[in-house]
Amino acid sequence: MAAQNLTSDDLESILEFTKSLAWKAGALILEGSEAIQAAGGEGESNVGEKKNSVDLVTEYDVRVEQLVQSELRSKYPTFKFIGEESYSSGVREPLTDEPTFCVDPIDGTTNFVHGFPFACISIGLIYQRRPTLGVIYNPFLDHLYSGMKGQGSHLTRGFNPPRRLPLANPKPLPTLNQAVIGVEWGSDRCETTISAKSTSFSRLAGDPEKGVAGGRMAHSLRSMGSAALNYSMVAQGGLDIYWEIGCWPWDVCAGIVIAEEAGGLVTGSHEAFEATKDTDQFGVVTEEILTGRKYLVIRGIGNTPSETGREAQKRLIEDFYKTVIDVAPN
Ligand code: IPD
Repeated sequence: MAAQNLTSDDLESILEFTKSLAWKAGALILEGSEAIQAAGGEGESNVGEKKNSVDLVTEYDVRVEQLVQSELRSKYPTFKFIGEESYSSGVREPLTDEPTFCVDPIDGTTNFVHGFPFACISIGLIYQRRPTLGVIYNPFLDHLYSGMKGQGSHLTRGFNPPRRLPLANPKPLPTLNQAVIGVEWGSDRCETTISAKSTSFSRLAGDPEKGVAGGRMAHSLRSMGSAALNYSMVAQGGLDIYWEIGCWPWDVCAGIVIAEEAGGLVTGSHEAFEATKDTDQFGVVTEEILTGRKYLVIRGIGNTPSETGREAQKRLIEDFYKTVIDVAPN
């Protein structure tokens, strides 16, 4: 059977529907946060562990996913659905050419559990195997990010009109030394991963003139605790780069579209970058990259007389990947 065709009007209406669904899901996330914080220590009983004691899930991750899945299924019954919580409980749909929603009901579950107000719902749409549309909503700040392939991306704050992303004209970025970089500890805490990450973070932040071999002394590193919000912040222009190994397609699918539509460039592992950097596939988020669990996104960079923004993105990624250590995602 031939895959469904979606017109730009279809995508526009899916985007509007998805935005209202994200606002609705946001209300449930806030309700869940109130309940968990009000329960104090007893709230811990609502918090479960997945692969280990730092990979958390709450009753609200499941409830938000059920809400979003049932509304999407009744509005778009022929679309496929990949969701973090249904995937964890064993429902694993392979990627096809069909339109497929890719949803993280609460991205930033650790923040959600701890009352750190950076958690969001992330709803992406994969169409013809490429991230095509995305909505990310942080209900704690009432920030809604949205993007659609070829149509730009926007931030809507409260009742204010949407603002096109990035929020300001992209500045040049001469070296990693001037960058604010998003990184995450993730939930894989084995020795190989944790020491590779620690060494990478130390090289990114450390002063090479004060003993840190290979140090880039970036302006700073940030860990927001949500891959989707890291992507949104790159799109907005507040983060220059975000790099993570170990997250999943539902953490990044919506963010990829939002960041790309703001001029950002997304690549996968060291290997994927090397294989594509000098080809017309550079910056194309293929199925392999989307599902590869290794992601780097860099913001849009302004042209200078000596270098286009795209050339600068490539040069900085090259430098970044010389600095950090690749590990297998667990
Ligand atoms: C996690 C967050 C976190 C990132 C992890 C993700 P979750 O998603 O995005 O920042 O470091 O890799 O799995 O578990 O909160 O949905």
